Amino acid sequence: MNSASCRIISIDGPAGSGKSTIAKQLAQKLGFIHADSGAIYRTLTRALMDQLGPGQDPEDFGKRIGNLSESDIQNLKIEIGIENGIQVNRINGNDAGESIRTPEVTSRIKFIADTMLCREEVNRLLRQFSLKTDLVADGRDIGSVVFPETPYKFFLEASIEIRAERRKKDFIKQGNEIPLAEIIKDIQKRDEEDRNRPVGALICPKDAILIDTSTMSTEVVLGCLMSEMQLQF
Ligand code: DC
Repeated sequence: MNSASCRIISIDGPAGSGKSTIAKQLAQKLGFIHADSGAIYRTLTRALMDQLGPGQDPEDFGKRIGNLSESDIQNLKIEIGIENGIQVNRINGNDAGESIRTPEVTSRIKFIADTMLCREEVNRLLRQFSLKTDLVADGRDIGSVVFPETPYKFFLEASIEIRAERRKKDFIKQGNEIPLAEIIKDIQKRDEEDRNRPVGALICPKDAILIDTSTMSTEVVLGCLMSEMQLQF
């Protein structure tokens, strides 16, 4: 599956558990590349939205996704590359950039994430990526499904209140003031979807190191991962 010479560290966890911040910083410390699997789901969603054309409401979009074939997905020509040490997500040769992070994309990802053919494509892209470089990969099913054989497996958790507080701070940084209750509701919905999806559901793999980050700063979590890994690196 992955080349013996490339190492993979998997970091899974629910929305707001801090996995992408930690994955990014850990990759930087170790000289690995941060593989953002959520960004690949987003890129696939964006590419399908572009292909199906404007005016598809999320439910219509969901119905159309159910009828896709493997070749429809391959024809989207999604590539994951590296530029200046950072993952780039390309559609038909063009960097998808921030177009994968709009609310329209976010409201349609569920249909992609629930569809086996789409998950298989994301998993194929991630495994192909792992042949090029050492990775710190974050997501929901990295240690359980995508790279089950990696010995470096982490699962981050945090209470829903703390995760919502973190999201609120991120929104404030982006200039958006959103009530905490609304953020909590949104995280609850995402947890429900992530934990109960028919394929690739969020679970803590038996051989993962579980870290509850609720009362830990980013530096402390990083220190914890580094010390766990010194045992193995
Ligand atoms: O990490 P994120 O919020 O950008 O991920 C976007 C969506 O992709 C998320 O709602 C669930 C899905 N996802 C997934 O199903 N499996 C992964 N390994 C990563 C993300």
